[in-house]
Amino acid sequence: MMILFLIFLAIFIAFFIKFLTADADFTLLSKGKVKREEIEDKVIWVTGASRGIGEILAKQLASLGAKLIISARNEAELQRVKQQLTGKNAPRNVMILPLDLTSGEESLRVAVEKAESFFDAAGVDYMIHNAAYERPKSTALDVTEESLKATLDVNVVGPISLTRMLVPYMLKQGRGHLVVMSSAAGKTPAPGQAVYSASKFAVNGYFHTLRSELCRKGIKVTVVCPGPVETPNSRTGSTEMKSLQQYFATMALFDGKNNSSDLDQINLFP
Ligand SMILES: NC(=O)c1ccc[n+]([C@@H]2O[C@H](COP(=O)([O-])OP(=O)(O)OC[C@H]3O[C@@H](n4cnc5c(N)ncnc54)[C@H](OP(=O)(O)O)[C@@H]3O)[C@@H](O)[C@H]2O)c1
Repeated sequence: MMILFLIFLAIFIAFFIKFLTADADFTLLSKGKVKREEIEDKVIWVTGASRGIGEILAKQLASLGAKLIISARNEAELQRVKQQLTGKNAPRNVMILPLDLTSGEESLRVAVEKAESFFDAAGVDYMIHNAAYERPKSTALDVTEESLKATLDVNVVGPISLTRMLVPYMLKQGRGHLVVMSSAAGKTPAPGQAVYSASKFAVNGYFHTLRSELCRKGIKVTVVCPGPVETPNSRTGSTEMKSLQQYFATMALFDGKNNSSDLDQINLFP
């Protein structure tokens, strides 16, 4: 009896330590590592790939053999990222597609047409909506119209327009997976984050609805809600991504089994 108790206690302590030190919740951790075959030779379009989480995702996906399309406004930074990518298809099969998410529907339509034409018109398998903009914190009442519009344009209107242009191609090819980098701020509002939080709630609302409309048509939608992540741009000036593992773990979603609603919204915390 005592031995059983000690075993139980040891398991409990092990889980507790894992819980305290984990980058992600147990649902996500239980997915394990990404299966290479889900990524290799797939065409993956990552926005916001010029730095931060997008850059890290691009590196991980390249190392798993993806063919990549990387986007942001700063072409020089995208070139820098491309040169650092290694993997079966990198840097040869890495296309730089500069875009400004605030540039309007017509310009985004052209970007989608270009993306669709890359790699002998193979089509986009995964669209990772990662780009976003967080303005300096201000109280909800101090928010300016300019700040509100600027944030919503990058974080909400741009990704939605891009999605509306891209999904018809995905429907034609009968497959596709949209991954949206939302935020814990899209679930739990915090002081000083009213506009950013509003933008992420909006993203959640749109993409959860989209999932319900597309789930029987071969298109998957995953909403990722990370907590704060120390990126190379953060105020500490550190050049290391603190929680690389959690983004690697995010890729475990690409095992094609995440149709159940509980896995469609992934909650990460540092
Ligand atoms: N870091 C965190 O703590 C955290 C926590 C939760 C969720 N997230 C989410 O994770 C994602 C990435 O965050 P991050 O911290 O890595 O961001 P980041 O370092 O600020 O990078 C943002 C990326 O978005 C691009 N971007 C900004 N405005 C754009 C525009 N108008 N058009 C096209 N691209 C634009 C930027 O490139 P250019 O400037 O070259 O255009 C950059 O590549 C975001 O969706 C963010 O909301 C981050």
